[in-house]
Amino acid sequence: MCGIVGYLGFSDSKKIILNGLKELEYRGYDSAGITILQDGKFHIFKSVGKLNNLIEKSRSLEINGFSVGIGHTRWATHGKPTEDNAHPHSGEFTHIVHNGIIENYGDLKTDLLYKGYKFSSQTDTEVIVHLFEEILDKHQFNDSDNGSFLAFRDTIGLLHGAYALLLIKRDEPERIYFAKEGSPLIIGTNFETGEQIFASSDSPLIGLVDSVIYLKDGEYGYVEQGLIKILNMSGVVIKPEYKTLPQNKELAQKSGFRYFMEKEIYEQSQVVSDTMLGRIGDKNITFDEISPDIFNGINEIKLCACGTSYHTALASSYLFERIARVRVSVEFGSEFRYKDPILHNDTLFVVISQSGETADTLASLKLAVSAGLKTLAICNVDNSSIVRTADYTILTRAGIEKGVASTKAFATQMVVLYMFSIYLAQIRNIISYSGVEEHLQILREIPNAMTINDRVHEKIKRLSKRYLHGHGFFFIGRDIFYPLALEGALKLKEISYLHSEGYPAGEMKHGPIALADPELFTIALLPKNMLYDKTKSNIEELGARDSTICVISSESVELADDFIEISAHHHYMLEFFEMTTVLQLLAMEIAIRLKNDVDMPRNLAKSVTVE
Ligand code: AGP
Repeated sequence: MCGIVGYLGFSDSKKIILNGLKELEYRGYDSAGITILQDGKFHIFKSVGKLNNLIEKSRSLEINGFSVGIGHTRWATHGKPTEDNAHPHSGEFTHIVHNGIIENYGDLKTDLLYKGYKFSSQTDTEVIVHLFEEILDKHQFNDSDNGSFLAFRDTIGLLHGAYALLLIKRDEPERIYFAKEGSPLIIGTNFETGEQIFASSDSPLIGLVDSVIYLKDGEYGYVEQGLIKILNMSGVVIKPEYKTLPQNKELAQKSGFRYFMEKEIYEQSQVVSDTMLGRIGDKNITFDEISPDIFNGINEIKLCACGTSYHTALASSYLFERIARVRVSVEFGSEFRYKDPILHNDTLFVVISQSGETADTLASLKLAVSAGLKTLAICNVDNSSIVRTADYTILTRAGIEKGVASTKAFATQMVVLYMFSIYLAQIRNIISYSGVEEHLQILREIPNAMTINDRVHEKIKRLSKRYLHGHGFFFIGRDIFYPLALEGALKLKEISYLHSEGYPAGEMKHGPIALADPELFTIALLPKNMLYDKTKSNIEELGARDSTICVISSESVELADDFIEISAHHHYMLEFFEMTTVLQLLAMEIAIRLKNDVDMPRNLAKSVTVE
């Protein structure tokens, strides 16, 4: 998830773009860059790290009079956060910024390399500029029929995946081309001055324009001073639909949600789609970042993480054993690093981390590296310490997660690990084509399963008032829903400050059921497609002892005091992902009622970089 800004007009384009990027820094800050085109000359600056580095680097550039410009702040999905990989990317006479993922960039790049085009980055984005210039060159459009526009149309027609892109061309210093598919892009117009401003979200436009166009998927075109041309992929000219811009920047950064955590819960449907882009083929799973030989000589997987990431590790262990038939062990980072473990080099050591900076996980990874194990990081931050230490990395592409309570990181980690378990089953030849196709279909349905149902959210808001006191919570589940129960308990603990614990539903009778009484709240995960009857009887055991029970399922059960309904899914993994959103919303709504700081709960930090 990156941020892009564009400007066309007589004001200081550099200042407007840099200020706009500052507003978008919450979307990513691995690197940043800007190009200003004035009088047929490109002025380009790029820097790694925070935006201030770019501001410093471009300080010498003074802009007076008419200019166009594009800027970008990056959250790496392809290629390390280096200056070469920073946007804007350029060809002979074209510069571009892009937010999204071009799924077919590999094939396009191979063809362009074969035709002699030179690449200076590892990114998918750079393919677009060379493709545009190749099409312009090959077709020899004559400018009477606006060849650049036709070449731009043909270029985006070849792209598969998600993109919001802005393109400028040296010999057209009064125009910015744009296209939108799957990633947000907004155009603001100042009707008095004819200025045109682009951004990935509202906040950079606030105070500069009063009304904006929220481009729809498939729309593309160009702007000039006081002119906007928008077409859809059928070539039909679209009448611009202006909307009034919200005036509160902070609210805009939260896209109108009350907290970043709420925004990130709602983003999960989109980011899990991003996580899968380019990795789910028609018939199989592929990862650009790794090759099948990652598993050569490996007989066991050891997963190591902390907190929420530990829960995805534990949950995915069920998938690795069930789907890939690989022996798995799971470790807390804080425990593993001191237990003097027995390590064999036939073990693939997999660390999972949103931040890539968790001290206990990093220390455990270093221990595995020093023991000569092959290591893989499942991480959300490229170039982080954990990524730089591991042999291989698979990025989760969740975008920046601002809420301390991890939500979309959990969802995207789970999707990566689910895909990875299928990938291992493929390379171990222990899964049939139809078996892979069944899982691919389930993966494709996950974004829909994670789309928040407003009726359910409203129910959770009302229900949460009953769970503000009492002497604690049990979250119970069986099989892969046991780690999910642990995650639900952690979400509640860390933002409501109420005591809660996750427990295997089948273990309650071995002691914890002694706590059962009306003041003890039980949140029971009851999937229809995984050990339904067993879990139902555990709920009945608790209900018979008068525990207050909230059941999360597609059908209620008699002894439930409360019931949160999820859709009737055909597979337990879809129930898993939908229940994830319910647990996150339940914790958040209870914390809101308790008037806690949902985004920055007491005693916690987003990244625990100390022991
Ligand atoms: C989860 O909501 C917490 N923020 C915390 O447990 C977190 O998951 C843990 O500190 C691990 O962080 P990491 O994923 O960045 O390594």
